[in-house]
Amino acid sequence: MPIPRKSLNSYNTKALQWADRMRNGNNTAHDYLEKPAMYKLLPDLKGRSVLCLGCGTGEECNTFMTRGAATVTGIDISAGMLKEARKAYPEIEFHKMDMSRLLFPDNSFDFAYSSLALHYQKDWLPCLKEIYRVLKPGGVFLFSTHHPFRWGMEMKITPGTRSHYIGFSNNKKGDLEIWGNYFKPRKIDDIWFGDFEVSYYHQPLNAILKYIIDSGFKLESFEEPIPLLSTKKVEPTFWEINSRIPLFMIFKLKK
Ligand SMILES: C[S@@+](CC[C@H](N)C(=O)[O-])C[C@H]1O[C@@H](n2cnc3c(N)ncnc32)[C@H](O)[C@@H]1O
Repeated sequence: MPIPRKSLNSYNTKALQWADRMRNGNNTAHDYLEKPAMYKLLPDLKGRSVLCLGCGTGEECNTFMTRGAATVTGIDISAGMLKEARKAYPEIEFHKMDMSRLLFPDNSFDFAYSSLALHYQKDWLPCLKEIYRVLKPGGVFLFSTHHPFRWGMEMKITPGTRSHYIGFSNNKKGDLEIWGNYFKPRKIDDIWFGDFEVSYYHQPLNAILKYIIDSGFKLESFEEPIPLLSTKKVEPTFWEINSRIPLFMIFKLKK
């Protein structure tokens, strides 16, 4: 019997590296694509109670404070990430908590936010139901996640090169080659930035939409963001790839 591999999780062991990337503009996908798109969709936070799920090292929580939120609560499953968050932002409330088991009363928050954290769950329904429960009626949940078209691709990682393939080739002789599998849900073990190990889950869009429908949320908007135009000059390779092939998607849901 093969021994099941443990999930890879550098969030806990390399939290300082993550914090440094987030605070010093060293994460192109966040700085030039995901954060600008998410922050554009933020509602007016003045006087609001905000819950940030998978808050990591706390930078987004800090942004919500500077935008006038009355209270900001950050939760994350990683003690390492929370240690860095508490050190940098001592005035913000952080809790070690699993987003599928929220220890807050019903109807506690005006706004919930989660950036690139839901795909660490195999089954999203418990999380979405919990977020729905702790939001006040009319409350909004804004989240970003991996785009399944991109992660449905077959990935080949060799030292210094990452290749992604989806598609097929066939001919009249019956030769057939297929790369990638969009429809097959699966766990992916990955390495970012050379040594940052993570495990997350791929699932097709129909599965994600079913979770949303079953949770009770109403879909308000859906986006497939492309990088900022300035990326063309600063990170041309990132621009070329990610202005043609989707990397992330963003959902705005309402209770
Ligand atoms: C890609 S990081 C994003 C961190 C932060 N939102 C940001 O954009 O910098 C994903 C975060 O989700 C957290 N996470 C993963 N599974 C979680 C769970 N079940 N409950 C709470 N947090 C979780 C990880 O520990 C990690 O800090």
